[in-house]
Amino acid sequence: MNKKKHWDNAHAARQVCELSWYEQLPAVSLRMIKNSAVTTDTPLIDAGGGASLLVDYLLEEGYRDITVLDLSGVALDKARRRLGERASGVKWMEQDITCFEAERKYGLWHDRALFHFLTLKSDRTKYIETLTKSLHPGGQFVLSAFALDGPVKCSGLDVVRYDADRLQGELGEGFTLLEQEQVLHQTPAQKEQLFGFYRFIKH
Ligand SMILES: C[S@@+](CC[C@H](N)C(=O)[O-])C[C@H]1O[C@@H](n2cnc3c(N)ncnc32)[C@H](O)[C@@H]1O
Repeated sequence: MNKKKHWDNAHAARQVCELSWYEQLPAVSLRMIKNSAVTTDTPLIDAGGGASLLVDYLLEEGYRDITVLDLSGVALDKARRRLGERASGVKWMEQDITCFEAERKYGLWHDRALFHFLTLKSDRTKYIETLTKSLHPGGQFVLSAFALDGPVKCSGLDVVRYDADRLQGELGEGFTLLEQEQVLHQTPAQKEQLFGFYRFIKH
């Protein structure tokens, strides 16, 4: 099955709050975005945002230039329906991140649990090239991925697990780590998954 079909099916099969990665309050992402001190008119992108509630909270906090990118149109439709009229204030991009050519620069790029699905080195290289091109100098990258002691699979797919050193190795010298935090995520099925959250700055 191709990737898009896989993710459309995964999002269609369950309600948003039943997905293993669901967070009622994306507290660590919000805190790291706040810590980045980006202004509310800074362009932000949530790569692999799916139907996450992060965009709802960012809108509530007054961020005005938000893009949500995801391969799954089903996920984006769910987010748009939930937001109702507020959805028109968000840019929605149904795209594979490994084919994404950003037409503008962002001040902050957020990714919770997309990058770790890129098991091919060539896909990770493409992602990091696009990330690097798309971020302004001084732009920030907030990433969350399964930690080294986290699960080896999610949604039936293999993942690559990370710690700060491995991520730094992927990103290279153009990025500096500013903060990190480990979080034990409780899935709706009451399983525990260890995530790492990282905030990098691009030079
Ligand atoms: C585990 S979910 C996380 C969703 C969201 N970030 C959250 O925290 O709730 C991973 C998301 O990445 C999306 N995705 C997977 N591979 C992708 C790709 N190559 N390009 C864009 N999105 C992708 C999936 O459709 C899914 O919505």
